[in-house]
Amino acid sequence: MKARVLSGIQPTGSPHIGNYLGALKNWAKIQYDYDSIYCIVDLHAITVYQKPEELRAKIEELAGMLLAIGIDPRNSALVVQSAIPQHAELAWMLTCVTPVGWLERMTQYKAKSQSQETIGDGLLQYPVLMAADILLYQAAIVPVGDDQTQHLELARDIAQRFNSLYGETFTMPATHLPTVGARIMGLDDPEKKMSKSETGAGHAVSLLDPPAAIRKKIMRATTDSNPAVDYETMGAGVRNLLAIFQAFSGWSDENTRAHFTGMRYGDLKKQVAEAVVAAIEPIQERYQKIMAEPGFVAQVLANGAERVTPIAQDTVGKVKRAMGLYTAS
Ligand code: TYM
Repeated sequence: MKARVLSGIQPTGSPHIGNYLGALKNWAKIQYDYDSIYCIVDLHAITVYQKPEELRAKIEELAGMLLAIGIDPRNSALVVQSAIPQHAELAWMLTCVTPVGWLERMTQYKAKSQSQETIGDGLLQYPVLMAADILLYQAAIVPVGDDQTQHLELARDIAQRFNSLYGETFTMPATHLPTVGARIMGLDDPEKKMSKSETGAGHAVSLLDPPAAIRKKIMRATTDSNPAVDYETMGAGVRNLLAIFQAFSGWSDENTRAHFTGMRYGDLKKQVAEAVVAAIEPIQERYQKIMAEPGFVAQVLANGAERVTPIAQDTVGKVKRAMGLYTAS
């Protein structure tokens, strides 16, 4: 039997090249080596207010995009989190074994809660729900970007605590990071992670940006006061552009360094922009085709839900029995 992979993405904002290089590209790449489940985590999205009609539309659009980047529905299950009630059910049971101090220490919680007037309890519980997503399917591998590593450590801590209190129940999930592109930074501010929630026009390249917009954003990316690429003294902006190029092109460190050393920033940016456009254009073409097929995405999601439901039921049954909760059988 193949080991299981699980990962998730929130249906908020528009997926960008950080999501693609940090996670989605890997999802497509490793999917055939594992029993793969990829989840659109709408219950995570509502930890901050979402306009209902927009959220509803974004779920199917994101599913269409995941298919366009190469998730093969004949191989991998594509599911919407809220369609499988066991995610929320298991999250509650895990909440009861999670010390609140573990959650208050999470850097994403600290950052997000600072920008909110009232902090919803969901924001604090967010990583417990994420642990539930992973442990529900007994996932062995979780391909994510670097910003999720702390949440993954917490998922392992929760699993370990549960296992030691109630007996071996959960598989320990391993974090799987890409070698290049695990942390893509904002083009306008290379000190900040590229993020769906940043609204600045020059911050992120969306997977749906037209080629002209991609070129414009990259040509305007923040660099530093050097005139040309110097690996010894380069700042975060240039390092980020080189990482984007390398991740899209698949070039080695040595080739990238030899090619770009001494190149003026204008030329560097042109080459980065062309590498991004060349990779994204075919994705966009597939996306348009997928979305033009009425009912296709909905069918893929229904099939995914049907496929994963027995796994989810099995785990929740085990957890209930382990904890002494009431089960009919
Ligand atoms: P989300 O929706 O913020 O991002 C989806 C994936 O994209 C990666 N990512 C990045 N990688 C590199 N550079 C960036 N700038 C960048 N921004 C985002 C993220 O690391 C992620 O892999 N909490 C998760 C969703 C989630 C999940 C899960 C993930 C819920 N349940 C279970 C794995 C397993 C999140 O908000 O991802």
